Amino acid sequence: MADTLTVRDNRTGKSYEIPVRNGTINATDLNQIKVADDDFGLMSYDPAYKNTASCKSKVTFIDGDKGILRYRGYPIEQLAEQSTYLETAQLLLEGELPSKDSHDAFVHEVKHHTFVHENVKSFMDGFRYDANPMSMFISAVAALSSFYPEASDVDSKECRRRQIIRLIAKVPTIAAFSYRHSMGLPYVYPSNDLSYTGNFLSMVFRMSEPRYVPHPALERAFDVLFILHADHEQNCSAATMRQVGSSRVDPYSALAASAAALYGPLHGGANAEVLYMLEKIGKKENVGDFLKKVKNKEAMLMGFGHRVYRNYDPRAKIIKKLAHDVFAVTGSNPLLEIAFELERIALEEEYFVSRKLYPNVDFYSGLIYQAMKFPVDFFPVLFAIGRTVGWLAQWEEMVTDTEQKIARPRQIYLGADRRDYIHSSKR
Ligand code: CMC
Repeated sequence: MADTLTVRDNRTGKSYEIPVRNGTINATDLNQIKVADDDFGLMSYDPAYKNTASCKSKVTFIDGDKGILRYRGYPIEQLAEQSTYLETAQLLLEGELPSKDSHDAFVHEVKHHTFVHENVKSFMDGFRYDANPMSMFISAVAALSSFYPEASDVDSKECRRRQIIRLIAKVPTIAAFSYRHSMGLPYVYPSNDLSYTGNFLSMVFRMSEPRYVPHPALERAFDVLFILHADHEQNCSAATMRQVGSSRVDPYSALAASAAALYGPLHGGANAEVLYMLEKIGKKENVGDFLKKVKNKEAMLMGFGHRVYRNYDPRAKIIKKLAHDVFAVTGSNPLLEIAFELERIALEEEYFVSRKLYPNVDFYSGLIYQAMKFPVDFFPVLFAIGRTVGWLAQWEEMVTDTEQKIARPRQIYLGADRRDYIHSSKR
């Protein structure tokens, strides 16, 4: 059997042989299918990219029907159990688990870049006292590009590497500064003797103690949460990183755009929306009424559903387990009872079962963050810290892919035909 697709155009009676590679046809092969010589050729229409592969990738694999997620071939369950965030970061960026020496050097490099320019503090101070931390985070990441003009040299491997290290190192500092600003607290400088997550907790929570000692269970919980959020192949924000980066803009600008995409309530902003939803439901007894509204399309069940997973999100399973470790330290979250009840009923109800709607990564993560005393509007920032490495791995792959060009979709124009301008006095 040939690996081709035979297409017969009934408009012209002509047949075409189109190669099938990796279970895919090349959309530009459709261009040869024309009704006239001056015709542009056949296009495919795919709003929201439901069935369009925009790249070839070796970073992350998802089988949505089976609920499988792997980074560079390694199952997420094994990484969450045995790896650290920085080791996973190196795996995502470099393709292989690092040797001890290589990893020590990587950790040293990241720790060497955790400080931000003092001016970052002054523009953080320019935000209103009640500015959303995600707005501050997005703006501060974009502003970093003004500190590193060399970053525009995206064709240099060494230069890209420097910016990648800087970004991984500095996003926790920027995130923590946005938290401290919104709390009216003084900024805490990085402590490079602490782990990546220990240092982040220190920059967020340290008060007057001379040395901040993070609780080991919470430090580890963050490592696992960052691993779980590190990458998720061609989601909205990763696709943004690739799309914006395809113009060859510097990675700070592209990453700020990705973070903006993440901020939306249907993407990384969903972890905050879940909390608002649970608070609104208020008590377990109200769950039934709320689900009725969902089925009547009067409300969305936030933290449920996924474009790719048509099965339980494997990250949600790990987070649900992790929540118990965190609650053992912080005390349980009273909203947990409502979340369990929502999940229990939703997994039985025909509406959710028939649509294959299961809890996603955002359903339980917010309950953990809230138990750790993070304000709800800070949750998307926590997602963004972990996802930074995924955006960078996707960006590096895109920049070095010789098949890629500036992203430029086509459109189906359905607007007015040519017409002449009419002066305003005659309209
Ligand atoms: N609550 C109620 N109904 C839902 C939900 C939900 N959360 N998600 C999907 N549906 C319904 C949807 O209305 C549609 O019903 P019908 O067939 O009657 O029109 C059906 O399920 C199919 O959904 P869809 O709209 O085609 O799904 P999508 O692939 O376009 O959207 C999604 C995926 C994640 C945007 C959506 O499920 C959603 O909005 N979920 C809530 C927000 C959320 O939790 N987002 C986090 C996603 S995971 C982390 C991340 O990537 O950021």
